[in-house]
Formats: sequence, C-alpha cells, structure tokens
Amino acid sequence: MKERLIARFKEIFKENYFKAYFTPGRVNLIGEHVDYNGGCVFPCGLTIGTYAIVRLREDKKIRLFSENFKEAGILEFTLDRLIKEDQWTDYPLGELKTFLDEGYKIHRGFDILFFGNIPNGAGLSSSASLEVLTGFILKSLFDLDINMVEIVKLSQRAENNFVGVDCGIMDQFAVGMAKKDKAILLDCNTLDYEYVTLKLENHSILIANTNKRRGLADSAYNERRNECDTALAELQIKLDIKSLGELSIEEFEKNKNLIKDEVRQRRAKHAVYENARTAKAVEFLSKNKLKEFGILMNESHISLRDDYEVTGLYLDSMVESLWEEEGVVGARMTGAGFGGCTVSIVEDKFIDQIIKNVGEKYTKKTKLNGEFYKVKVGEGAKEI
Ligand code: GLA
Repeated sequence: MKERLIARFKEIFKENYFKAYFTPGRVNLIGEHVDYNGGCVFPCGLTIGTYAIVRLREDKKIRLFSENFKEAGILEFTLDRLIKEDQWTDYPLGELKTFLDEGYKIHRGFDILFFGNIPNGAGLSSSASLEVLTGFILKSLFDLDINMVEIVKLSQRAENNFVGVDCGIMDQFAVGMAKKDKAILLDCNTLDYEYVTLKLENHSILIANTNKRRGLADSAYNERRNECDTALAELQIKLDIKSLGELSIEEFEKNKNLIKDEVRQRRAKHAVYENARTAKAVEFLSKNKLKEFGILMNESHISLRDDYEVTGLYLDSMVESLWEEEGVVGARMTGAGFGGCTVSIVEDKFIDQIIKNVGEKYTKKTKLNGEFYKVKVGEGAKEI
C-alpha cells in the first residue's frame, strides 16, 4: 500500500515524498452515546484506516489531494487562509487551524496525499481518523511538543468548532490511542483509560455495513446531546452531579421524576444504563464470559432502539437478522446511528453462513445490499 501511494504522490505532486503515516478507523464494542454524557466507552482500532504521504514545503502553501475524491484534484490553501468549504478538506484544515490557534509553531506549508479504506459515512470514524492523522503529521513535521492525548483533544475541538459536529471524545481517542488486539476502556469524564486484551478465542468481531449513509446523523446527534444536557440540568436541581455518567442505576431510578419530560427521561435512562452495561461487559470479557458480553451488546441495541431512538429500519433489520443466526453471540449498532454499521461477536465456524443468511435477509427487508468485514484489531496513529 505504502509503495503504491508513494508512486501516486510523485505522479500527482511531481515531487519526492518525505514521510508516510497511518491512522486506523474504530469500532465501538459497547458504550454508545455515553462519551458526551461522561460515561465509559469500549472501542478498538481497526486495521483499515487513513494513509498519508507527505512532503514539507519551503513556502506557506498547503496542497491537499485525496485518492478518495480524485475528481476534486489538488486543493490549495495557505497557512494564513484556512477556510471551511464543506468538503473533505475541512477535517485536515480544521485540525491545522486548531493547532495554530493553540499557538503551535507551524511555519511552513506541506503537500499531502491522503487515501482512506474506511467506508465513508459508515460510522467507523473516517473523519476522526483524518483529523488525528493530520495532528500526528503536524507533530512529526514540526517536532511539536505535544502528546497523543493532547492531539486527541485538539482533534475533538477541530470537529466541534471547525467542522461543526458536537461529538464526544471517543472516536478521536480510539483512533489515536488504539493498540493491536486490545480494546480501550475509556472513562470519558476523567480520560482515564485501560487496555483490555480481546481474547476472543474461536470468535471474531464482524462488522456489517447497512450501506445506509448516516444522513440524519449530525442534526439528530446534536439534538440528543441537547436532550441529555437538559435532563442533566433537571437532575442537578437536587443532585450534585456534573454528568449523567456519575449516576448509578439506583440513583437514576430514585430521581428520574425530576426529569419533567418522558422522552428526556428515556434519553437519560439510556445513558445511565449503557454506562453500567459497559462496566459489566468489560468485566465479563476479562473473565472470558463471552456469552454474557454478547447479551449486553444485544441489550445495548434495544436501548438505543427504544429509549435513545437512534437506530431505524436499516440498523434494526441488520441487527435483528443477526440475532436470528446460530453462532452470533451478540449484535448491536455501533457509532452515532441512523445508518452506518453494526458490530457483532460471532463464532468463526459459522461466519460464512452468517454473512450469507444475514446478507439475504437484509436485502429482502431493505432492498439494500449489506457489506461484511471480519475485523482485525489494529494500532493507533503511526509513521509507516
Ligand atoms: C459518534 C461521535 C462519538 C460518540 C458516538 C456515539 O461516533 O463522534 O463521539 O458520541 O457517535 O457513541
């Protein structure tokens, strides 16, 4: 891959390259829509991701080219003209602008050729991957004194302030900090984290792409955040808490009537129960109790479907088809929802049969063709 992309770099920019980098995509195993509620999430990095071939320039020009958007050609900016244009360049430019605003000394321009093999809009964090990748490149090119967790935080800020999506920190954290064969238990309140070995033995993680793009995701995402913030404010009238993630199920049940609206009550309920589920799930996994882990994945989906209402026909059809299959230990939607991907744990010996049967059932129900990827758990941002 690297050699092929270097050859493309030379062809496109007519120059020699300087360095090459990679950041993965991520899949979240459990703990959905809890990061911005101060709870725990459990994602892992993938071996698919985003590649960059980079050359430092003498002047202040920034020239960007993506193999995924070839028809757009080379897009040119300068260090003092970084503009949001509602296209893919918003992610690297937003990152660069955030670094500059933070006072990092970036005094020369660069040429970058990007290539991503994460399906776009599938909820596997192609955007976070591109942001963190750019941050990592900046650190490397300009020898910046910044560690990965800081890069992760600035990447989230770039997405919030420049791109305009009010996301939590999970995706950027997973993409930056991922480790081979490990998932990350991340407390989004404190940013304390722990790597947990994924001992799946004769099982694999299977991602199913509904191929329904998450069209609604950004606006509905921000709406869910607002609903949770309002529910928190209602609870704070009596409770001394800073986030929903601080509440146990018992505390929530005792106080839920402070939330004056039934819909908001369900949103908060999801956040609290999902956070508790994540802790329990990781405990099960550490004790090799895969079956119990799977049951919690299923419960997570039901809660996202009924209480948080971020699933919809495509994700539900895929997950429900998976649940019917022999060898599926657990299945749920992953990421923001409203389309995108599901994640499941499946027994290896049934995997071909599962893909065939679920593929057929899904197409019958939705008229779309699903896609399936057996996941390998890969490393975070790195030079290649
Ligand atoms: C998106 C956001 C994350 C997280 C998930 C839902 O992927 O970028 O911050 O909120 O949705 O868990």
